[in-house]
Amino acid sequence: MKPIKVGLLGLGTVGSGTFTVLRRNQEEITRRAGRGIEISMVAVRQVEKARAIVGDACPVVGDSMLVVDNPDIDIVVELIGGTELPRQLVLRAIANGKHVVTANKALLAIHGNEIFKAAQSKGVMVAFEAAVAGGIPIIKSLREGLTANRIEWVAGIINGTTNFILSEMRDKGLDFATVLKQAQDLGYAESDPTFDIEGVDAAHKATIISAIAFGIPMQFDKAHVEGISQLQAIDIQYAEQLGYRIKLLGITKRTTKGIELRVHPTLIPGTRLIANVEGAMNAILVQGDAVGASMYYGKGAGSEPTASAVIADLVDITRLAAADPGHRVPHLAFQPNSISQEIILPMAEITTSYYLRLRVADQAGVLADVTRIMADLSISIDAMLQKEPAENESQTDIIMLTHQTQEKNVLKAIEKIEQLATVFGQVTKIRLEELS
Ligand code: NDP
Ligand code: HSE
Repeated sequence: MKPIKVGLLGLGTVGSGTFTVLRRNQEEITRRAGRGIEISMVAVRQVEKARAIVGDACPVVGDSMLVVDNPDIDIVVELIGGTELPRQLVLRAIANGKHVVTANKALLAIHGNEIFKAAQSKGVMVAFEAAVAGGIPIIKSLREGLTANRIEWVAGIINGTTNFILSEMRDKGLDFATVLKQAQDLGYAESDPTFDIEGVDAAHKATIISAIAFGIPMQFDKAHVEGISQLQAIDIQYAEQLGYRIKLLGITKRTTKGIELRVHPTLIPGTRLIANVEGAMNAILVQGDAVGASMYYGKGAGSEPTASAVIADLVDITRLAAADPGHRVPHLAFQPNSISQEIILPMAEITTSYYLRLRVADQAGVLADVTRIMADLSISIDAMLQKEPAENESQTDIIMLTHQTQEKNVLKAIEKIEQLATVFGQVTKIRLEELS
């Protein structure tokens, strides 16, 4: 059988990894796919630079439209990044009857509903394993391996750059800027690294996970997004003293009132496997009603780990290209006519536990005032740590861990606590998940 023809848009970190792995493992991949997978055209901006990698294996062009309009190409692989240009290219490829593979989580979280609708009506596949957690096959696991389950929640370390930063800062005492530069040099960071640091990249991925786990549309605009830029070293230390690690988690959870979709720094008990996931590694915990908890761990970023996921999609499409579209696995795990309209809960309505740090006057009655406010709002305290004031200091830190409560109660409590004359500055609030 003739090889399936692939057009590659982008030959950067992921594109060059895809080109290299496909060439290196060509024979093995062909035996698995049932026919050859051949990159027959590459588009980049800097054509000469790309030719140095591609050699004379295939033409390199400077205009991506030449790839998406090429009638000989069966699958377009979008590895450019960004949203507007990829949206145009992907929609045009679909309109031209081509299957699409993309690693672009921003594109799918923002324009996924439009893209999947277009693909559905053209009967083509859009595959995106590499868009969430790099080399970890989490999309396939959720969409196929766990298909018997009612998924209850998913929580994961789904941004390698921030996990790398948090790990290196804690273990080696390096400063934020130095570690970020290392993450960029290693090819982990997005072209705009604020997407990583401010939690946006993780929220793109959490949005995709929520759609597949619960059969809802992509709703990135409803996600709560909080990154690590405001996280202070002192809170990482106090968390450790209380037996917790702080990780940037993407969380999506089914509740009786709606679906939680949030990204924020989170305290996790230090004994949990996921609390010990370090460096650029990713890990995703999935709670299904039948299987219980299962965890998926591996490299969440980087050239060849991500290429591994891109090529897995290429093999899937190659195997299924001739199948009736109605017999393929639905893009978002659920049949398109069974998508649910369950709401994403506003952040005030979510329920979780909290770490609170207060700077207080070292005098009698302070704690009683604080705990009275908490009790009035039905917030129950699980653990507390009061530091000895430093010598000649009249202020100290109190750290409290709460039991589960609604976010709106905690916000009200913080507002009242900050008004106390014996409490100085702002109360630091970090959410806590037992993940049990
Ligand atoms: P890079 O910045 O390393 O590479 C981008 C590539 O796209 C370059 O080859 C660039 O060409 C090309 N490009 C940019 N603009 C255009 C354009 N207008 N027309 C044609 N080509 C263009 O990005 P990555 O490989 O890191 O990321 C690619 C995608 O994969 C992104 O969506 C990213 O979010 C996603 N991703 C990345 C991971 C990673 O570990 N890096 C992991 C998982 C997903 P030139 O060099 O000539 O400018
Ligand atoms: N910038 C992303 C990360 C790349 O650090 O996880 C992988 O999606």
